[in-house]
Amino acid sequence: MYIMSTSTPTQAAEKQQLAVLTSGGDAPGMNAAIRAVVRVGTSLGHAVFGIRGGYAGLLDDAFVPLGPRDVGGIMERGGTVLGTARCTALKTDDGQARAVERLAARRIDGLVVIGGNGSQSGARALASRGVRVVGVASTIDNDLVGSDLTIGATTAVDVALESIDRLRVTAASIGRVFLVEVMGRDCGYLATAVGIASGAEVVVTPEAPQEPEDIARAIRSAYERGKSHAIAVVAEGATHGVDALARYFEAHQERLGFDLRLCKLGHVQRGGAPGVSDRLLATRLGAAAVEHLHRGAHGVLVGLSNGRIAATPLDEVAGRTKPADHELVALAQVLAR
Ligand code: F6P
Repeated sequence: MYIMSTSTPTQAAEKQQLAVLTSGGDAPGMNAAIRAVVRVGTSLGHAVFGIRGGYAGLLDDAFVPLGPRDVGGIMERGGTVLGTARCTALKTDDGQARAVERLAARRIDGLVVIGGNGSQSGARALASRGVRVVGVASTIDNDLVGSDLTIGATTAVDVALESIDRLRVTAASIGRVFLVEVMGRDCGYLATAVGIASGAEVVVTPEAPQEPEDIARAIRSAYERGKSHAIAVVAEGATHGVDALARYFEAHQERLGFDLRLCKLGHVQRGGAPGVSDRLLATRLGAAAVEHLHRGAHGVLVGLSNGRIAATPLDEVAGRTKPADHELVALAQVLAR
């Protein structure tokens, strides 16, 4: 799927004015991507601007020049130093037209958009209006077509894992069941990965749907196998979420016979300091985005495919969701029993 460009290279080796923004849900590693864009961009002789506050900042003309020293000491920080937003205005014709005008007024030759699904749909919309744009695959959900792994997903799993390890301490001590909700929107990757890594007794995801009674049976079976407690990891996008499950289990508590608590990890999962895997991935993808623009390639998302940098046309990325890794999903179910 590696392609050089969706358009004819035009500006290779000329000095360009590049801009970078982070958009949508923040993800650990975004700062490493910003740093790579700035440092690789300037080392290739280009001027680089950051846009504060995602697409909303673009519409508000929130540009700031960035040099190599401006991005020192940011890589180890979670979130994004540029700020981010979910920008509904960019979904409208008027908003897209204004964004194009802002970029033209600032004489921006190439734009790097670091973000997930909604952000890359915005990037595609701008590309269709003639903006030279390259997307960088970044979302904790790991649901983006065009990258085996997205920036932030690994750190989010690590953060969730640390919390679940702690929950297991109290669950084992007092003999309880914990229903733990993890993020991921409609995708079960985070729940699957942390379910396997934490040794959860139950893993419920959109890709492995289970009825409340099946989940109750799995928990009871854990007790029958001699366990003193159980952890059920439930993806926020599961058909029966933690609230519905808790209501069901409470309504049938006498029959089921287990004591239960509920824990929603929520946005805590997004706030971790990026680990080495996300720092490296983000650095590689940020650098690749600039290298594409440098040689006149654009209209693509840069991601990772089989360990190599891959570029996928934004038309193939926007509005789609990466299919689940069914082997991993099945493995989580086998190991949970
Ligand atoms: O896409 C990242 C994500 O954290 C999802 O996992 C979650 O469903 C959503 O964003 C939460 O969005 P917000 O931060 O706007 O509440």
